[in-house]
Amino acid sequence: MSFEQMWSDLAPIGRAASSGGYFRQPFGSAERECHAWFLEQCAARGLDVETDGNGNTVGWWRSGSGPSVLTGSHLDSVLDGGAYDGPLGVVSSLAAIDRLRERGFVPDRPIGVGAFVEEEGSRFGLACLGSQLMTGAVSSERAKELRDRDGTPLLDAMNAVGLEPDLGDSALLDGVGCFVELHVEQGRDLVDRGAAVGVASGIWPHGRYRFDFTGQANHAGTTRMEDRHDPMLTFAMTALAANKQARLGGQRATFGRVQVEPNGTNAVPAKVSAWLDARCSDEATLAALVAEIERQGSQRAERDGTSLAVSAESVSGSVAFDPALAQRLAADHAGADWPVLATQAGHDAGILSAAGILTAMLFVRNPTGVSHSPAEFAETADCLVGVDALADSLERLAGP
Ligand code: GLV
Ligand code: MN
Ligand code: MN
Ligand code: MN
Repeated sequence: MSFEQMWSDLAPIGRAASSGGYFRQPFGSAERECHAWFLEQCAARGLDVETDGNGNTVGWWRSGSGPSVLTGSHLDSVLDGGAYDGPLGVVSSLAAIDRLRERGFVPDRPIGVGAFVEEEGSRFGLACLGSQLMTGAVSSERAKELRDRDGTPLLDAMNAVGLEPDLGDSALLDGVGCFVELHVEQGRDLVDRGAAVGVASGIWPHGRYRFDFTGQANHAGTTRMEDRHDPMLTFAMTALAANKQARLGGQRATFGRVQVEPNGTNAVPAKVSAWLDARCSDEATLAALVAEIERQGSQRAERDGTSLAVSAESVSGSVAFDPALAQRLAADHAGADWPVLATQAGHDAGILSAAGILTAMLFVRNPTGVSHSPAEFAETADCLVGVDALADSLERLAGP
């Protein structure tokens, strides 16, 4: 089945008519439908499917022997996300297998196409949960405590879709020698460089931090402005400070999720919880940025008669992909080298790399750079260049 056909098969699954964006939360019906589709595609290609106790799945092209070559990505999306973030890597991997077979290539080592669960952390709050469970980067004790916004525990969500979760690290990575993930670019570097495809050098360190602002609920009409202890105001000023601090240092800081209590129009809120996503070029700068945002927030809280408590929910260290492998994959494509660039987005590739697996990533140009949004896009022509690029990479890695 062609890339275009696979892409149109997936297109309607989990798409909201109102926005055109995707809601493919892990272990929900749309994500499971994508997953079932993936299993069908593996079967149609004669790939030997293995699933671990957490829902991560690999379809193996068993050929040759020795350390295997893994590719793939994820099928879940952020809330109201784009079509490409994740599925492009999975569909391109399947298409790359077809391309290699058309070329008559016979791998010296097995090639696996993987689909990892809950990459976005959109349901259980922890990004790359599937791959982190896979490598043991997240303990089963911590995973057992994870709950979604409705209070459903991760284990129950997995059980509900027929998985038999063990929440332990998995045997799927046994014998894997290297991993290549293809992904839509989530910025505009490739547009600026005039290239359809690029190779990743590394991933910026990043983290998620919960900011709890507590004040005093009160009447929106009768409470004089000077008598209020309004945590929304403290939050608003902290969000401004975060934006300014990040801009000053060329870093990234975003408050994208807020919870207000009691969330009524005619009451000064009692509490605002907001989640900061911060990303910096190095780990020390990340720690300093978050500390400065907290310092300014606490200062503002003192002025507002509110309080601020900050806790880190997850922090991912800096990832440097193997430079020799990046160069090897980037080198010499129809006489030109692909650009090698760093990214500020998190990926399962970063988790596998941190676990000591030789890892590389390919990016496909995104004309506007918009991602985590219904507007995310890549031209089909560029996606097809990406499929060829991935097939070339797999050939270099699984060939003689
Ligand atoms: C995941 O895509 C992230 O970078 O947040
Ligand atoms: Mn992704
Ligand atoms: Mn994403
Ligand atoms: Mn990601």
